[in-house]
Amino acid sequence: MSRPKELNIRYEFVENSENKQRLDKVFDLIFSKIINDPLGPSTTNDSNLILGDCLVELPKLPDKSIDCVITDPPYGIDYQSNRRRVNEQLPKLQGDQDEAFDLVDKTCAILEKKIKNNSHLYFFTSWKVYSRFERIISNYFEIKNLLVWDKVSHGMGDLKGNYGGRHEFIIFAAKGRRILNGEREDNILVYSRNYNLEHPTEKPVGLIEKLIEKSTNEGELVVDPFMGSGSTCIAAKNKNRKYLGIEVEERWFNLAKRKLQSELLTKTN
Ligand SMILES: C[S@@+](CC[C@H](N)C(=O)[O-])C[C@H]1O[C@@H](n2cnc3c(N)ncnc32)[C@H](O)[C@@H]1O
Repeated sequence: MSRPKELNIRYEFVENSENKQRLDKVFDLIFSKIINDPLGPSTTNDSNLILGDCLVELPKLPDKSIDCVITDPPYGIDYQSNRRRVNEQLPKLQGDQDEAFDLVDKTCAILEKKIKNNSHLYFFTSWKVYSRFERIISNYFEIKNLLVWDKVSHGMGDLKGNYGGRHEFIIFAAKGRRILNGEREDNILVYSRNYNLEHPTEKPVGLIEKLIEKSTNEGELVVDPFMGSGSTCIAAKNKNRKYLGIEVEERWFNLAKRKLQSELLTKTN
């Protein structure tokens, strides 16, 4: 069951206004009636989405409880998307300046204790900061490969004075040795970029589903300490894996919650 069409149009219109949070609550209420859940979606099965700082939340997990990490940390290049939505630039991300490197370092130190032996980690990153990320991550894990996400088409930027950016890197790392599932594949992953972005650095769910299938089995726990719009959690849910997503900004946390709920509604109809 999907939202009534008229409500969706209204929602698009106020997406970036200060009324959005109020409207989010109204939607939660409407959804709770639609799916006949007396507590409402914001209180159903959402304990695996945490609104908070991953440096505070990750240490609460039992040691060696995580089977796989797939994450996209703040890039450290003061990123702001050029793609516009509802005539307004998408906002800059929290922690997305130089302190991002310190954040990744501290996160890896915690993950090293919380992830099981013989497991995989994937870190999305940009070619601009790859060398710094590589130095940090290799202090905690073995870097096994540098995957290239080919986005099929190039993005914006200096249209005449530079080459169009068409790829992103994914650092593939391991704690111990785990065998990849399925056939041997190469390190270039071709997945079309998302055009209808609600989060400035939203990743394609299909690409993350592929990584999850290669590195986990059904029922295992996939964690994303920098959840954003929840792409990793949606992919894990689609592939029948357990998931935990942590996001520090309420706006993106609510977006992830909403996306997971609409995914659930689509699946049950
Ligand atoms: C690059 S984005 C992730 C986008 C995500 N892959 C997606 O598909 O939507 C990084 C996210 O990390 C969040 N973040 C920054 N610092 C954080 C922290 N200390 N704990 C948890 N989340 C944090 C930002 O708010 C941002 O939404």
